[in-house]
Amino acid sequence: MIVAGVMSGTSADGIDVALVEMSARAQAAGGGAKRKKNSKSTDPKVRFLGHAELPYPADVRRLVLASMNSPRASVADLARLNFLLGELYSEAVLAAQKRLGLKAELVGCHGQTLYHQGRPATFQGRQLAVTWQVGDGSRIAVRLGIPVVSDFRPADMAAGGKGAPLVPYLDYLLYRDREVGRVMLNIGGIANVTALPPGATLEQVIAFDTGPGNMVIDALAEQLFGEPCDRDGTIAASGRVLDEVARRFANESYFRQKPPKTSGREEFGREFAREFLQACNSSAVPASAGGKAAPAEKRDVIATATAFTARSIRDALKRYVVRKGQFTELIASGGGTKNPTLMSVLARDLGELGLRMRSSDEFGIPSGAKEAVAFAVLAFETWHRRPSNVPSATGATRPVVLGKISYP
Ligand SMILES: Nc1ncnc2c1ncn2[C@@H]1O[C@H](COP(=O)(O)OP(=O)(O)O)[C@@H](O)[C@H]1O
Ligand SMILES: [Mg+2]
Repeated sequence: MIVAGVMSGTSADGIDVALVEMSARAQAAGGGAKRKKNSKSTDPKVRFLGHAELPYPADVRRLVLASMNSPRASVADLARLNFLLGELYSEAVLAAQKRLGLKAELVGCHGQTLYHQGRPATFQGRQLAVTWQVGDGSRIAVRLGIPVVSDFRPADMAAGGKGAPLVPYLDYLLYRDREVGRVMLNIGGIANVTALPPGATLEQVIAFDTGPGNMVIDALAEQLFGEPCDRDGTIAASGRVLDEVARRFANESYFRQKPPKTSGREEFGREFAREFLQACNSSAVPASAGGKAAPAEKRDVIATATAFTARSIRDALKRYVVRKGQFTELIASGGGTKNPTLMSVLARDLGELGLRMRSSDEFGIPSGAKEAVAFAVLAFETWHRRPSNVPSATGATRPVVLGKISYP
């Protein structure tokens, strides 16, 4: 079965579509034959066929970002956005199919997260953890004439989980190894890791969000340079790191919180970027100015945000993952891998932790396509009514079937 996975992440840069050939897991051989607990023999088979990245039109990106950040959005506009994204996701799948000369039979669409609060908080006297992804599934199903699985996160939350991260299921299927301990690092708007010790069972998967990936760099690049990101890391490469600021922010409470944990724009969005910029500005008072505030060099702010991001990832791995040389490989993916300044600092730091950096491309999935592949795989499992959350990663009390199915 060919499944299209559709992902648009917290960066709100656009839509990634991956086409994946899925085949049902083989039956466990010979009735009663005991199967090793982490054996791959009954896993569904995943074959990557191709992918396409379709940027959001600039106006749509602005609208999505404004809706995420707004404390007071218009309900009518949010309803419209839900249907508009349904249209854009349909068109993205059609474009990907055309480009690759393939036709999908099922879609797994993550949708665009407008709000995610993984930890319960009091609302109207009740403790609620909540999440909201938009991009109407019925619209996609009818436009494409095939069933669509969407809205994956609420089922995990209903079972007491944080609704995230969900990609560890794919990591577990594809990257676990009897001998080699691996860490998968995806650097999107938010950065997250999945750690699979050698011979890991599903219960032993460690996964959490380390904190910002590109999000803080992007916000500051937009604010200071009017650019959507620090393309190819050139601004950061030309700047000087304000060490004290990078160190101080990497020590904020989120980073010292034990996993499982998730984060998003709620923690590292516009407000965080504003505080970060302020701290850069007040740390950059030159001695010669007699204590008078002078704004930091703009490129130094980007260099500092890049150093802070790398540092927060390194610290998370050091604190919560790496021990006794159990992990030796790190497989990097996500848009952040295209920022060589960020990646070279990370490669050096990770080398010190005994981790050799590899790319998800080496394993047959382009680094920009991995999350889209994950949602194709999750959709396939849901279609067969099989659970695909990883309770050790999300904190759910049990495995559950994720998502909602829309029919054409
Ligand atoms: N050439 C590049 N140079 C620097 N950063 C890049 C480059 N290409 C992509 N990125 C970064 O990757 C982000 C998109 O990554 P992605 O994995 O799609 O994240 P998300 O899942 O949050 O959408 C962009 O917002 C940008 O910050
Ligand atoms: Mg993206």
